[in-house]
Amino acid sequence: MTETYESDSFVRAFREAAPYIHYLRDKTVVLAISSHIVASPDFAHLAQDISLLGNLGIKVVVVHGVRKYINDLMQQSQTTLPSHLGRRITNEHTLIKVKQACGEVRFDLEAALSVGQSNSPQMLTRNRLISGNFISAKPLGVIDGIDMGYSGTIRRIDFAMIKQHLQQHCMVLVSPMGHSLSGKTYSLSMAEVAAEVAIGLRAEKLVFINEEDGVLDASGQLVRNLSANQAQELFEKTPQSKAISRLLPSTLKALQSGVRRVQYISGHLDGSLFAELFTKHGSGTSLAQNAFVHIRQAISDDIPDIIQLIRPLEEKGVLVRRSHDYLDHHINEFAMLEHDEQVYGCVALKQFPHEKMGELACLVVSPYAQEGGYGELLLEHVKNQARAAKLKTLFCLSTHTGEWFSERGFQDACIEDLPLERQRQYHQDARGSHVFVLPL
Ligand code: ACO
Repeated sequence: MTETYESDSFVRAFREAAPYIHYLRDKTVVLAISSHIVASPDFAHLAQDISLLGNLGIKVVVVHGVRKYINDLMQQSQTTLPSHLGRRITNEHTLIKVKQACGEVRFDLEAALSVGQSNSPQMLTRNRLISGNFISAKPLGVIDGIDMGYSGTIRRIDFAMIKQHLQQHCMVLVSPMGHSLSGKTYSLSMAEVAAEVAIGLRAEKLVFINEEDGVLDASGQLVRNLSANQAQELFEKTPQSKAISRLLPSTLKALQSGVRRVQYISGHLDGSLFAELFTKHGSGTSLAQNAFVHIRQAISDDIPDIIQLIRPLEEKGVLVRRSHDYLDHHINEFAMLEHDEQVYGCVALKQFPHEKMGELACLVVSPYAQEGGYGELLLEHVKNQARAAKLKTLFCLSTHTGEWFSERGFQDACIEDLPLERQRQYHQDARGSHVFVLPL
């Protein structure tokens, strides 16, 4: 038996994170950080983690909010902020406060993200933080008879400039303000800016970092994964906090426009960003245009993933050995289960049309994802495939997992119940597997 490093959980966590780190390298992640988080003492840890993302080769764009800073300034001057349809109405007086608040958040962010940079020359070049005049804006104008003043919307974003900085391994900081061609300044919505930046840069992920853990269901439980449709339905039925509700329109637009994942996480939870980006379960709510888990037909490119799943089990005698060549010739029989772009399981269906029978084989769920129902999903997939092919019986052979199949309706059977061709192979293999059948 192989010895295990004493901190087994570290090794497991590192192995789980590795494919995600590999996947995100050279991809763009947009982090939209609420000003409540920037102002909180918890931001120091988060800032360190953000810097580390840059060192892992991930292109990071930070968009920040200003709401808390503006509210504080308005409170100091005992003024209230009128709003319409969730957007602040910005008059000349408010605009001065917005500019002031924006400058303050920016300096706080720059300071936090600069910590530790001077210690290492490598870090200095990778994490240099660049901000600039990236957005041109236009006024929102008059809505329902209300002049929104200096509250604006995006006219254009200088993506070429942002990409150039990212290419040079800099982190880019974008503020929710823009200037018009006539030289006026407009206050913008942070969510809108973050979504448009993510869309224009074809970002892999857009992460909103707020005070809340994520989206909650009717019983107040955190919802881990949502498709765009599910999110819309849930927000209609279950009111969310103001901060989370505000994000929905930009989230849906980002997803519809090709951003693969939008994630809501808490900035108060130490490590939440890493957990969301580098683990399967994440830490907050992850939203995608379509359902998260899906099962698809395998292709030759999946062979390395199949081998990674099956080899340890072959070595333990749980599965019969299948060579690369075998997999290449029989790849059409395999289906792959993916969660969030990562492969977590496979299964094969070998058809015996003459006998109207099908063999379910090579059912494997990654050890990192077991007991989450994926085995059941793969079984359902094979049952549906078999029914679609007009097969009447599904069978499987197992040395170690008979109980799992029995609990799912398979019945003990004998070798003579198998197609003749399979009986011959059974005797050749001499593994003494138990036989199970399931009428379809
Ligand atoms: N025997 C009995 N029950 C089991 C076994 C087992 N060998 N393995 C897991 N279970 C139970 C779990 O305890 C859990 O029970 P619970 O719901 O009461 O808590 C339940 O199965 C989990 O079900 P799922 O979440 O749907 O299954 P999972 O995604 O974990 O996948 C699978 C099940 C495929 C068996 C997985 O454990 C695995 O990959 N095992 C190693 C490979 C293997 O044995 N594959 C089958 C080879 S035989 C063939 O392919 C024909």
